[in-house]
Amino acid sequence: MKISIIGAGMVGASIAYATMMKGIADEIALIDVNINLAEGHALDLSHGNPYVKPVRILGGDYFLSKNSDIVIITAGRSQKPGESRLQLIESNAELMKNIVKKTLSYSKSPLLLIVSNPVDVLTWVAWKVSGLPSHRVIGSGTTLDTARLRQNIAQHCHLDPRSVHAYVIGEHGDSEIVSWSTANVGGIPLETLCSACTASCEGSGVFERIFEDTKNAAYKIIEKKDATYFGIGLAVVRILEAIIGDSHSVLTISTVHNEFEGIKEVPFSVPSVLGRNGVERILPLKLSEKERAGLIKSALTIRKAIDTISK
Ligand code: LAC
Repeated sequence: MKISIIGAGMVGASIAYATMMKGIADEIALIDVNINLAEGHALDLSHGNPYVKPVRILGGDYFLSKNSDIVIITAGRSQKPGESRLQLIESNAELMKNIVKKTLSYSKSPLLLIVSNPVDVLTWVAWKVSGLPSHRVIGSGTTLDTARLRQNIAQHCHLDPRSVHAYVIGEHGDSEIVSWSTANVGGIPLETLCSACTASCEGSGVFERIFEDTKNAAYKIIEKKDATYFGIGLAVVRILEAIIGDSHSVLTISTVHNEFEGIKEVPFSVPSVLGRNGVERILPLKLSEKERAGLIKSALTIRKAIDTISK
C-alpha cells in the first residue's frame, strides 16, 4: 500500500509519523514544494525503521508520488490566531485544484483524502477537479471534532474515551453540531447516564460547555502554539486504518452528498462506513428536530462558501 502526503508541514509530518507507528503502509512519499523539508523529514523518519515495521519513506517532488493508492492532501495556508477555517478559502481553493491535477498526472485513480482547510469546501473542489466518484474523495471532516467531543465527555464523566459514542456532524468548523440525542455510553443514552450520575457536576450547562470546548479547540491550541497537528495526524491515521484494513468502520468523514434537504452537491460529515474503496454507505442518523435544523444550517454554510468560488 503506497501513501503519498502532499504537504510536508507539521500536519503532513505528523501523519507520516503516526502512519509509520501503526505499521499500515509499505511506502510513504512526503511531497512538498520545499524539497529540503520533504527530504529532511523522510530521512529523519527512515532512521526509526529499525524500531517499527520498516516502511519505504521518500521525500521530494511530485514524481515520487507515482502510482499511489491513497493521496493525502494537507498543503495550504493554516489558520492564524482568531481566523476561521472558511477565511482560508481564497488562498487554498486554487492551490487544491493545482495539487489534484498534478497528483492525478502521476497516479491514475488514487483514493483522495483531503485534510487542508476549509476541508469540506476543499473536498468538493478535489471531487470536481478529479472527476473521481464521490465515495473515493474523502475529507477528514469532523473526525477530529468527534474525537475531541469524546475526550471532553470522557474527562468529565471519568470514562475511557473509546467507550463514549457521540458524533460531531456537519461542517468541520464554526457551524458544526453535536448529535446529543444519539450520544451513548454502553448503549445508555448520555442524558440518561447524566441524570443518574451521582457526581456533583454542574448539571445543566455541562453539555453546552463541552460543545463549546470541542468546537473552539483549534482556536485555543492555535493561540497557544500557532497550529494544531498531532490530533489531526491521529484522526487521519484512524481513517487510513479503516481504508487499508477494509474494516468498515463508522467515522464522521466528509463526503459530497448529491442532494440534502434540497441542497445540491454539498460536502459535510455524518457517520459513514469506511472501507478499502472509500465510503461504503452513510448511516441514517436519527436526529432531533433541533439537530436536523442545525445540520441543514451547517450544510447551507458550506454550500454558500462553495458558491463563492464556483461562479
Ligand atoms: C483542527 C484543524 C485540523 O481542527 O482544523 O485542529
